[in-house]
Amino acid sequence: MINNKPSYTGDIAAQEIDPTKEYSTENQEIVFSEEQNSIWADLFAGVHQPYLLEHICNEWKTGMELLQLNPKFIPTVAHLNNNITTRTGWKIERTVVRYTLADDWYKKFAQRVFLITDYLRTRDQMEFTPEPDMFHDIFGHLPFLTQEFYARIEDKFAPAYMKATQEEREVIKRLAWYSTEFGLFVQDNRIKVFGAGIISGRKELTRTIIEFYRLGCDNVIDYTRPIYAQLYEQFLKNKNDLHRIIDGVNELHQGGQMSSADEGWNVVLSLYKKLNIKQEGMFGGDVIIAPFDVETIARIPKTVYAFNPMLFVCESLEKMDELLDSYLKPIALRA
Ligand SMILES: [Fe+2]
Repeated sequence: MINNKPSYTGDIAAQEIDPTKEYSTENQEIVFSEEQNSIWADLFAGVHQPYLLEHICNEWKTGMELLQLNPKFIPTVAHLNNNITTRTGWKIERTVVRYTLADDWYKKFAQRVFLITDYLRTRDQMEFTPEPDMFHDIFGHLPFLTQEFYARIEDKFAPAYMKATQEEREVIKRLAWYSTEFGLFVQDNRIKVFGAGIISGRKELTRTIIEFYRLGCDNVIDYTRPIYAQLYEQFLKNKNDLHRIIDGVNELHQGGQMSSADEGWNVVLSLYKKLNIKQEGMFGGDVIIAPFDVETIARIPKTVYAFNPMLFVCESLEKMDELLDSYLKPIALRA
């Protein structure tokens, strides 16, 4: 079978962007086509279903009410700023850049500007797009940005990034990836979805939720007891194997073998075989769920864009705050 789909190996392909096409502060708005609004409406409806929503954290739902997104139409930048800037001081700016590199991203972050791309996925990418598009940016992140706690979390990254060494910058990117993009946390003794990358994709979200149930079904977690302690116990028991898997995934990733979701799952399964790790317990599902452990996350040297073989859970939002601070604050406070 010939696969003509582009291959993403972690570095989004160099973009040929005409800088003269960049939006100016006076000219932020786009007239969207009927097809684009219809793609938006279908993506919105796909996620906005009670059976999925119950697994998303309360803060996102509160933010959705505050942001007042129209399920049928892509919002204007003015609408977003009317509901965000007044509440948290953050500002939304449109960019032609499809995937902003971290250095430019954090320069904007330092000014409390959250960039949204002008690119919307096409019909054939409804299930998966390796590049975060405007649906991801708006639907996944912006409900949170109406609230002070999220602004506070986002405020942590830029000051540290600016003073970090190159090596530390890689860790900072990973911490952002596994918190604001793909993070989970415990709320009401259930694992709840927090990361915008999971929320903005019906398939990614469903796959994550299936793992919540799988953990219960296979008796890895007993949901009638406090769940975080059980997750942590599993983690301590399996830490060594978890780190072996991370090292193996990194090797595969560097060899370009993690470039699509299908390839990814197959290579991870063969990695288990190679490492002689049984597909059971913590490792019995399609995704590994582990406690948010900075040391473990720092071992993942490169973000795997095509899919996430691992997700990390914080005990609470306050704990997420603390754990991020534990790494970011000492760097940000450097002279
Ligand atoms: Fe994002």
